[in-house]
Amino acid sequence: MSREQYRDDQFYIDKINRLREERKAIILAHNYQRGEVQDIADFNGDSLALSREAARVDAEVIVFCGVHFMAESAAILSPRKTVLIPVPEAGCPLADMITPQGLREMKKRYPTASVVCYVNSSAQVKAESDICCTSTNAIEVVNSLESNQIIFVPDENLGRYVATQTDKELIFWKGSCPTHYRVLPEDILKAKEKHPKAKVVVHPECRLGVIMLADEVLSTGGIVKFARQTDVKEVIVGTEMGLVYRLQKENPHKRFYLATEKLICPDMKLTTLEKVANALERMEHRVTVPEEVRDKAKRALDSMLEVEV
Ligand code: 13P
Repeated sequence: MSREQYRDDQFYIDKINRLREERKAIILAHNYQRGEVQDIADFNGDSLALSREAARVDAEVIVFCGVHFMAESAAILSPRKTVLIPVPEAGCPLADMITPQGLREMKKRYPTASVVCYVNSSAQVKAESDICCTSTNAIEVVNSLESNQIIFVPDENLGRYVATQTDKELIFWKGSCPTHYRVLPEDILKAKEKHPKAKVVVHPECRLGVIMLADEVLSTGGIVKFARQTDVKEVIVGTEMGLVYRLQKENPHKRFYLATEKLICPDMKLTTLEKVANALERMEHRVTVPEEVRDKAKRALDSMLEVEV
């Protein structure tokens, strides 16, 4: 890092620390955020841990460093808190692949099926669903339902992986995370050739051909735990590059290799220290959800939070 970059970062870190106190704010950051943003956060985690934290924290203001659906989930779970997203355009292409109208039409075709909705979705889609899931608890959520037929939206890859782990019949929506979708089986084979002693850990948003080559299939939080507990010294990581920063920081004596350089989510990289400082200074950009949608979406999120993992 250049001297100028260090000075700029320090300027914004000091500003964030001062404003965080003044505003009685808490900063939550997803594991895919830039390293410097993870470093200033009060809490880093995966989607499930961040939802739990948002519902639990005793703060007037939550600054959510992640993408829009994550901040929206925090606003659904904690309506009395002010939820801010530093960059409102930070979206999730996977979440945008399904509309409430599309889901309603699917429900008409399978009237007796239950609907499980991955948290990477809008509040309106959550409101049309029976229960949400994250990559940490998707299998448990599906198995917790009485119905044997389940509409699983919007991530087809996660759904297909879950289908290999349950006896239930899953009906998929054709959605996928473009970042994870770019990873091909040959990328994993190449990485294994380069690092023959390494274990391969991938996110369940990867395509099934990639998942089949992995030693472990885990959420980002699951990968953090795995990295801490494993005796192996080298790990090939098949998920967004931001996680590798955290893994390396927490496990300096182990080596983590990104499975392919293609694993970068442009939306997750939009949040910078400057944007976080601006959010706190200007108290923007507020994320709210209309009450009638919020109420139904909260039911789906609350049902998920009740499922034990
Ligand atoms: P995790 O819940 O595993 O952190 O996944 C979040 C996500 O959006 C993956 O693309």
